[in-house]
Amino acid sequence: MGSHEFTALNKINLSFKIGEFSGLVGPSGSGKTTFLNILGSLDVPTQGKAVVLGHSISELSTKKMAELRNHHLGFIFQTYNLLAVYTVYENVELPLLLLKMPEAERKKAVLQSLEWVGLTDKIKSRPAQLSGGECQRVSIARAMVKKPKLVLADEPTANLDAHNSHNILETMEKLNQELKTTFIFSTHDEKVIQYLRRTIVLKDGQVVSDDNLAKN
Ligand SMILES: Nc1ncnc2c1ncn2[C@@H]1O[C@H](COP(=O)(O)OP(=O)(O)O)[C@@H](O)[C@H]1O
Ligand SMILES: [Mg+2]
Repeated sequence: MGSHEFTALNKINLSFKIGEFSGLVGPSGSGKTTFLNILGSLDVPTQGKAVVLGHSISELSTKKMAELRNHHLGFIFQTYNLLAVYTVYENVELPLLLLKMPEAERKKAVLQSLEWVGLTDKIKSRPAQLSGGECQRVSIARAMVKKPKLVLADEPTANLDAHNSHNILETMEKLNQELKTTFIFSTHDEKVIQYLRRTIVLKDGQVVSDDNLAKN
């Protein structure tokens, strides 16, 4: 911040196993988004390193990093980040266009993903015609459509009511179990915390506790 240095994350040392359903929990400003953004290569750490699926991301070229993101990472943002001029179908299809997947295969994957989130009847709608819960479900379908290995979900229920939050969490839990997708959430929502099998509490950029229900 100008000449003043601010440490958003300090001495963080965490590792996640494939198939984990885990979350960073902590008050606003505790460093959750910074952590997810570093894993997703949207932000670069000043010190230390992040290794994602065996790749030390600061050592990857921009092209290799984009490849890793396009193939294996799914992002779910608090504010959905859907493209307003595109339909639901087109929003979900976009990651597959980046992968240059053939059309027939794309169509199958998009329809499957929209079925997972229960939105097959809204294929032709645009984001402005949907509720917040529906928009968030589209963003989950978009994150899941390529069956990524890792999903980074930054406060995915922050704009949702209890009913929609539970539906969305049930969907993600199902995908975690069926596809072995690793989920890392950031949240301070009790409704999300109930579902997590591992809860990492952050405070002022440091880990204050790390509780794993699924010790194995
Ligand atoms: N680029 C930046 N420059 C200065 N401070 C930042 C920057 N990014 C984040 N911060 C600060 O780092 C802290 C952690 O932010 P963030 O990771 O967004 O927390 P959370 O997601 O837990 O609310 C906040 O106090 C925020 O203001
Ligand atoms: Mg945040």
